[in-house]
Amino acid sequence: MTIATPLVIAVLGTGPVGRALAGRLGSLGHDVRLGTRDPAATGRREEHRTWHEEHAEVTVATFAEAATDADVVVNACGGEVTLEVLDQVGAELLDGVVLVDVSNPLDFSAGFPPRLSVCNDDSLGEQVQHAFPGARVVKTLNTMNSAVMVDPARLGASASVFVSGDDPDAKAVVARLLREMGHDDVIDLGGITSARGVEMFLPLWLRLAGALGSSEVGIAVVRP
Ligand SMILES: NC(=O)c1ccc[n+]([C@@H]2O[C@H](COP(=O)([O-])OP(=O)(O)OC[C@H]3O[C@@H](n4cnc5c(N)ncnc54)[C@H](OP(=O)(O)O)[C@@H]3O)[C@@H](O)[C@H]2O)c1
Repeated sequence: MTIATPLVIAVLGTGPVGRALAGRLGSLGHDVRLGTRDPAATGRREEHRTWHEEHAEVTVATFAEAATDADVVVNACGGEVTLEVLDQVGAELLDGVVLVDVSNPLDFSAGFPPRLSVCNDDSLGEQVQHAFPGARVVKTLNTMNSAVMVDPARLGASASVFVSGDDPDAKAVVARLLREMGHDDVIDLGGITSARGVEMFLPLWLRLAGALGSSEVGIAVVRP
């Protein structure tokens, strides 16, 4: 499969992850749209305005408008609203698209630390793939914070990033984007069921960040 560069990329989500990924991918020369429920309301948010002043090349649109004609759609919304947001985009727009899922199925309803809303023999990545069978879902980047996602060198050591998905060509596109952002150890874990592993890393990641007093922690997989 050949996908031209620059890519048309829709980043769905205006939180720290969406802003970080949209800004970085835009600065790399891709045609990036940031998706939100209500662009006007989002435009009134101070943190968004400050970010957008630095990333004027990124357009802001509704989730569905952002995803229209995109090569790659990135889900950067909360795990609890992920399927709802992708429903707003619709199966038709997601058909054939590389759908990058960076979400985590965290349930904060009983406080901190959150529990996983899906685990063991299922994952949010699989639920996304099941709900949108025409999309080519790739789970990645959910094992690190937003700053590290877009600038892994800030850890000062070579960290590893994982990709999970059933479509090898889609994983190749995602691996290319990861390398463009500075990730030099991209590990293909296999099919989308392997998203269970990276999603179930979150309880340890949360404890590590708490114990070390920093969310700037990454996994470095050591092997011969
Ligand atoms: N924060 C990190 O460093 C980090 C690291 C790894 C993975 N993740 C995962 O990445 C995802 C994004 O995290 P985040 O902290 O950047 O953003 P977030 O606060 O989890 O999500 C923000 C986005 O969710 C959208 N959304 C859609 N429907 C919503 C509803 N009913 N209620 C609330 N929000 C709704 C918001 O829309 P509007 O734009 O309209 O407000 C916004 O775009 C999460 O799944 C998180 O677990 C985060």
